[in-house]
Amino acid sequence: MVLFRMNMIWRNCVCHLKQGKVPHRCQSGAHPVAPLGSRILTDPAKVFEHNMWDHMQWSEEEEAAARKKVEENSATRVAPEEQVDQNAKEKVEESSWDQIRSNFSRMQGTETHCGESCVSSAPGNKGRPNFPNPDLEEHSDGPGKTGRFPGSNATFRILEVGCGAGNSVFPILNTLQNFPGAFLYCCDFAPEAVQLVKSHASYTEALCSAFVHDVCDDGLAYPFPDGVLDAILLVFVLSSIHPGRMQAVVHRLSRLLKPGGMLLFRDHGRYDNAQLRFKKGRCLSENFYVRGDGTRAYFFTKGEVHRMFCEAGLHEKQNLVDHRLQVNRKKQVVMHRVWVQGKFQKPLHWTQRG
Ligand SMILES: C[S@@+](CC[C@H](N)C(=O)[O-])C[C@H]1O[C@@H](n2cnc3c(N)ncnc32)[C@H](O)[C@@H]1O
Repeated sequence: MVLFRMNMIWRNCVCHLKQGKVPHRCQSGAHPVAPLGSRILTDPAKVFEHNMWDHMQWSEEEEAAARKKVEENSATRVAPEEQVDQNAKEKVEESSWDQIRSNFSRMQGTETHCGESCVSSAPGNKGRPNFPNPDLEEHSDGPGKTGRFPGSNATFRILEVGCGAGNSVFPILNTLQNFPGAFLYCCDFAPEAVQLVKSHASYTEALCSAFVHDVCDDGLAYPFPDGVLDAILLVFVLSSIHPGRMQAVVHRLSRLLKPGGMLLFRDHGRYDNAQLRFKKGRCLSENFYVRGDGTRAYFFTKGEVHRMFCEAGLHEKQNLVDHRLQVNRKKQVVMHRVWVQGKFQKPLHWTQRG
């Protein structure tokens, strides 16, 4: 039953992600014409007949060209004096996400995702108020396992980390309505994002608790005890965190899972078009870049993802590279998109390595 629920939620979430371009994934009622994953390009002459092709195989030439592009765009690194201290940088990034949200939400409820525009049903946010952060004050010590906390009566609990304006939150809440006893937590380090989620018409405290939380800050307590989550969603978030901090984040999140709980991961893969199109001078370190808006992006290989989650004591249940060909029919251009997707389970007898 638990596995069934998890699969439903993940399918629902990934289904939104897979609807062609990321920006389309949250348009209400937008369903792909062909079943997801079934659009295979067999005749290159037909490439412009659809917006996206699944399961693309790269030729050796294509792979070599991508490698060359990355060598070129990472040859010139951001100058060390501009790579400010990591904590300060994180604050810059936090305000960048907030700024992006403000700009887009002013434009009729649009939101950004991975540096690309993403339509959100979140209501427009006026200005950029300085929201207080009651969640952090309220839960500074963290609740005990036996005490009451939001969702303490639930029998199935999910956390979405880095929820942004709620592009996954609301489809999940929709699904959860058919599962009595389920509860969703969602957090983001940008207070404005959390405020957007909370002010959405579908947000209800009976089913959901949104809170401000920086997953890189080890000292911060969660508003629920360790070991109570059935599932964690980590979707296009880890890539924005400094590579030197990722392992600690994965370790901390693993502690939140119940034995048998599942961490669901999706993020940028190595040689994704988003990596290839970086200009020189944007590279911070190997495969890690800063965008013009100050947000950052790492591009993972399957092996790195495997090592990171296994190092945290989780067992790999799925780890795949999702290669697609994205087509801009109007401009008659094609782009190789690469995402890594994985499911990692906490074993019944969990031993955290490292
Ligand atoms: C690319 S967006 C993805 C949003 C959402 N997961 C989705 O798939 O639509 C990345 C989100 O992660 C959040 N984020 C980045 N670093 C974070 C951190 N250290 N702690 C919490 N949230 C973070 C950003 O504020 C942003 O909302």
